[in-house]
Amino acid sequence: MNELLNNILKKRTYSTIDKKEIRIHSETGEEQCLLLQNIILKNNFSSSLEIGCAYGISSLAITEAVAKNNGKHTIIDKFENSDWGG
Ligand SMILES: C[S@@+](CC[C@H](N)C(=O)[O-])C[C@H]1O[C@@H](n2cnc3c(N)ncnc32)[C@H](O)[C@@H]1O
Repeated sequence: MNELLNNILKKRTYSTIDKKEIRIHSETGEEQCLLLQNIILKNNFSSSLEIGCAYGISSLAITEAVAKNNGKHTIIDKFENSDWGG
């Protein structure tokens, strides 16, 4: 798991581009992120679609694994800007 995702999962906060500290919630846990990565890597998946990313925790995990397979991760979230700060 990459350092950025590891740090966010440990501290349960991240910094926005304008240095605002955001406390995350509703995220996919570390164990589940690792499971998703294993499934992608074992099956050599190079394309994925995620519905609902919130603060993007699972998105970081999935993107990391799919990128290792030279692939692409697509995300759709109806409330990304209204509820999750974009
Ligand atoms: C539990 S959160 C996802 C957490 C995320 N997987 C993570 O690891 O941080 C559920 C997400 O689903 C999104 N959502 C809810 N209804 C939706 C809909 N109809 N279409 C797309 N996204 C939706 C919410 O905005 C929210 O971001």
